[in-house]
Amino acid sequence: MESESVIFGQILISAATSVTSKVWWSVFDLYLTVAIIASAFFIIWIIYLVVSTRERPGRHTPNQIHPGIIPSANRGRPRNVAFLVVFLVIVFFGLWIYQLPTTNYIKQAPQNAKNELVIDVYASQWIWTFKYPNGYNVTRYATFPTNTTILFRVTSLDVMHEFSVPAFKIKIDAFPGVWNVAWTEVLQSGNYTAFCTELCGLGHATMWAKLNFVSPAQYQAWIASHN
Ligand code: CUA
Repeated sequence: MESESVIFGQILISAATSVTSKVWWSVFDLYLTVAIIASAFFIIWIIYLVVSTRERPGRHTPNQIHPGIIPSANRGRPRNVAFLVVFLVIVFFGLWIYQLPTTNYIKQAPQNAKNELVIDVYASQWIWTFKYPNGYNVTRYATFPTNTTILFRVTSLDVMHEFSVPAFKIKIDAFPGVWNVAWTEVLQSGNYTAFCTELCGLGHATMWAKLNFVSPAQYQAWIASHN
C-alpha cells in the first residue's frame, strides 16, 4: 500500500520535478481550465433551459414534447447548432495546435546540450539495465545527477518493452535492434520510478527501476567510485 501512495504522490508532485513534466503540466493546467469553464457554461445553460422552458399553466412552449405527437420539422435552430459546431471545432483545434510545441519539446532531445549525460538503457525480460558513459552497468537501481540534460538511449535485448517515467512525462519504445531517445532534465533530487508500459510477458508488472537523482557533485563522487 505504501508504494502505491508513493507512486500516486510522485504523480501529483511531478509538476516541478523536471523540465519535461513542467511543460506537460502547463498544457494540462490549460486543458483543465478550459474544461472547467466549458463544463460550468454548459451546466448553467442546461439548468437555464430546464427552468425557462418548463411546463407552466397557460403557456405554450414550442419545444414541448407531447406524447404521441411527432414534433414538427422546424423545431430547433440550425444557426445555433452551426455556431456551436464551429465553436467546438475552433476550441478543439486551438488546443491541439497549442500543445504541438510542448509535444515537440518533450519528444526532441536537445542537440549538444552542455552538461549532457548519455545513458544506454537496455530492456530485457524483466529488468532494466543502465549503462553509464564509463562502461559501468547497474540494474533496477540507478543514480543520476540533477540539473543535467540526460539522454536515455533505449533499446531492447529481447521483446518489445517501453521505458516510461510518469513523474517526468517521458515514455519511449524499447525495440530490439532500435535505439530510441528520451530525455529530461531533473530539477528536484529524490527517488523516481521507471516502469515498463508495454506488455512484455509474465513479469511485465514487476519490470520497474528506481531512479535516484542526486546533486551533480554527489553523482560525480558516486560514478568515480565505480570506474
Ligand atoms: Cu517490459 Cu513490459
